[in-house]
Amino acid sequence: MDRYAVIGNPIEHSKSPQIHAAFAAQTGQELEYGRILGEPEHFAEQVRGFFAGLGKGLNVTVPLKEQAWRLADERSPRAASAGAANTLIRLPHGRVRADNTDGVGLVRDLKANHSVDLTGRSLLLLGAGGASRGVVRPLLDERPARLLIANRTVAKAVALAQELSALGPVAGCGLEHLAGQRFDVIINGTAAGLQDRVPAIPDDCLVPGGVTYDMMYSDRPTAFVRWGRGHGAALALDGLGMLVEQAAESFILWRSVRPETGAVIRLLQP
Ligand code: ATR
Repeated sequence: MDRYAVIGNPIEHSKSPQIHAAFAAQTGQELEYGRILGEPEHFAEQVRGFFAGLGKGLNVTVPLKEQAWRLADERSPRAASAGAANTLIRLPHGRVRADNTDGVGLVRDLKANHSVDLTGRSLLLLGAGGASRGVVRPLLDERPARLLIANRTVAKAVALAQELSALGPVAGCGLEHLAGQRFDVIINGTAAGLQDRVPAIPDDCLVPGGVTYDMMYSDRPTAFVRWGRGHGAALALDGLGMLVEQAAESFILWRSVRPETGAVIRLLQP
């Protein structure tokens, strides 16, 4: 049987095995999907070992996405601009292809699941780390009026925007430069939520009835979901839908079948 797995560290709480088992059952695909505790010092050997056996594909999660990107023999364009891979695919002759489905997962959750159209909209992306980097290109593919990346450390936002500026109207700034600006959609890609905090952004930077999206998810409303609810958002979403959609996009890359995500999102909702 074809084997797949998610690899990361820590890994025990990953929902990916449950999601992919549901996709496989639903689409009648025969496969096994497990979890592997990744060891940063031995990651390349772990991947090569997995693919030398029955392994056909891996999902990669924190903190190994950059390493996964580096070890691949080839990269999709969206993985190339993300500088990180969440999906590895075994190709013939032992070659490995890296892809990144995080950004398209985010866009699909917004568009297909919540009818949020990004075209012509003013978008704010908070944070300039790996999570934000992974979604810039798919967001720009939606042709927003603009995408501003705001980060606590200004230089990182400016550098990320500059690096990807050929892809669309993207700019970078510090959080303190947001005063007086308004956005239709605000996406949180910072790690502030790990301390149950939100980045220091102005109270009035979301247009009334706008949308907030936290790439993190939790069984309870995250700090940024609570911020959205308290600041006039018509929709204040967390990253559960993105998690399931990025998994679906990986599943399609491996199996060439699109699973139905709605039922799986409902299954995982607290
Ligand atoms: P990841 O790969 O998960 O994005 P990362 O590369 O460590 O992790 O990036 C974390 C991001 O969250 C960064 O943009 C970080 O801002 P800095 O670049 O200034 O460090 C941001 N971040 C973390 N805690 C934050 C907080 N309390 N307020 C605002 N931004 C925060």
